Amino acid sequence: MSTKAFVIGHPIAHSRSPLIHGLWLREHGIDGSYEPIDVAPEDLGRFFDRLRTGEFAGGNVTIPHKEAVFDLCDDVDPLARTIGAVNTLVVDQGRVSGRNTDYLGFLGNLDAGAPGWSEGLDAALVIGAGGASRAILVALASRNIPVVLVNRTRETADRLAAEIEGQITVAPMDSINEVAPHVGLCVNTTSIGMHGTRFETFDLARLRPDALVTDIVYAPLVTPLLADAAARGLRTVDGLGMLLHQAVPGFAAWFGVTPSVTPDLRRRIEATL
Ligand code: ATR
Repeated sequence: MSTKAFVIGHPIAHSRSPLIHGLWLREHGIDGSYEPIDVAPEDLGRFFDRLRTGEFAGGNVTIPHKEAVFDLCDDVDPLARTIGAVNTLVVDQGRVSGRNTDYLGFLGNLDAGAPGWSEGLDAALVIGAGGASRAILVALASRNIPVVLVNRTRETADRLAAEIEGQITVAPMDSINEVAPHVGLCVNTTSIGMHGTRFETFDLARLRPDALVTDIVYAPLVTPLLADAAARGLRTVDGLGMLLHQAVPGFAAWFGVTPSVTPDLRRRIEATL
């Protein structure tokens, strides 16, 4: 029987997940499908009833449902709970499990783009304290990497640091240039960079020459932060790989094959940005 998976959201047309999973299905010759389904918030409960019939092996969850599905799942992975969002559902014998694969996407992207990056890493600078930051703090804590967290709104960073188990120190945004020489990794988790904007007060010359710089924004692929860092000769990893790598565990759970994030897959998704 053909295995079916989905991505639910509202709206859903913008999602690149059907393209990613569709390419993997074809590559592996799997008799399966991955379809975008527009589910309005008021229909989410009914969609879960449908899930429990076993029609689907699972699927992805995107905006605005990532928090609402918590109460509908039969069980939720503890890390998804800490991150505060579920992006992947796995259905087994009528039970729906919620997971979050964003933190694995972050780690997979850096592991592929800068092999060995976390070995001996003394500290990371994380800019921003929104939803994406949560997943990245969990990812860094899983590798025991101390973090200095800075955010425009200090209180949001304080709250977040208190909720995540890990070595997280909150520093004022205007101390970013004092923090910079003490970190081997710099991560932008904010939407700055999406519209060609940069951190005007962040002097990248303060980063060590061996520092790695990454951005979760992937459109544009080369954000001003990454362009500035590369111009200084720093290593950079763009954010597209996080999107691609977060899709791997879901595909593996539903279709039983662990897919690869190949240069060809990257090129094809890049072409849609
Ligand atoms: P997401 O869930 O995608 O991470 P979010 O929750 O809206 O998005 O978080 C956005 C993050 O980017 C926040 O840390 C936000 O800072 P505030 O907590 O002060 O709002 C940060 N951010 C967004 N625009 C910013 C800007 N122009 N300057 C500095 N920080 C910005």
